[in-house]
Amino acid sequence: MSFVSVRDVWQSYGGRPILERVNLSVAEGEFISIVGASGCGKSTFLRLLLAEEQPTRGVISVAGDMPAVEPDRARGVVFQRYSVFPHLSVRDNIIAAESFGTRLGWLWGARLRAARTRADETLGRIGLDHVAGHYPAALSGGMQQRLAIGQALTARPRILLLDEPFGALDPGTRVQMHDFLSDLRAQSPMTIFMVTHDLAEGFKLGDRVLVFDKPRWDPHDPGAYGATITYDFDARHGGIPYHHLREKIHEPTHA
Ligand SMILES: Nc1ncnc2c1ncn2[C@@H]1O[C@H](COP(=O)(O)OP(=O)(O)O)[C@@H](O)[C@H]1O
Ligand SMILES: [Mg+2]
Repeated sequence: MSFVSVRDVWQSYGGRPILERVNLSVAEGEFISIVGASGCGKSTFLRLLLAEEQPTRGVISVAGDMPAVEPDRARGVVFQRYSVFPHLSVRDNIIAAESFGTRLGWLWGARLRAARTRADETLGRIGLDHVAGHYPAALSGGMQQRLAIGQALTARPRILLLDEPFGALDPGTRVQMHDFLSDLRAQSPMTIFMVTHDLAEGFKLGDRVLVFDKPRWDPHDPGAYGATITYDFDARHGGIPYHHLREKIHEPTHA
């Protein structure tokens, strides 16, 4: 049975179609990479999955539930630029994310020690244990992004949405983050949607790679139609026409 089900979803802003006829069925635990030209609606699709906004038409349901009307803790999200709490230390950023809704000052004694232990485990996994007491301003952009991912993970979301999460990281850090995400998946049944500009990254990490593109194009009115999923590649079983895809998504956008 599909875990995330997207049925005939359309999204328009001010009458302008962005997404049209999007259909998708995702099993629990799948890693879905999403690629496509800039501005084609990838982030919009993640916002719909997050239930941050409702589609103009169509239905998105998770685990057979009624469509969500607002984001909940089952859906974690990490953006390319995520603001962590600047006034909290790195460790307290993790503890604050974990005890969402609880004031930090209310944690004390054994609970505080347990929270610190869990936070330090998370920090170890994202490679920030050596800066646990520092403030975010003292960290590189890459380290701040790892902190943001660590925060999203503390909610143990069933769905993790990653919007170009590694776009600002240096290549070495990206490879570390790939290993980190792979390890994480091995330990938990989390379903992941990741938008990326890097096809190799999409195929390396994803079980499937979805391409968003406009199947209909009016040269006199480029905004006339929305994008949809034009390819759905099985990234785990070879024979992928990868170079065709590369040409396709690097097409000029005629903006
Ligand atoms: N809330 C909104 N109101 C109006 N237009 C929007 C809104 N969100 C996105 N758009 C427009 O929808 C299109 C797709 O945006 P987006 O989903 O951010 O694309 P991508 O993430 O693929 O680059 C863009 O043209 C953008 O300007
Ligand atoms: Mg985007």
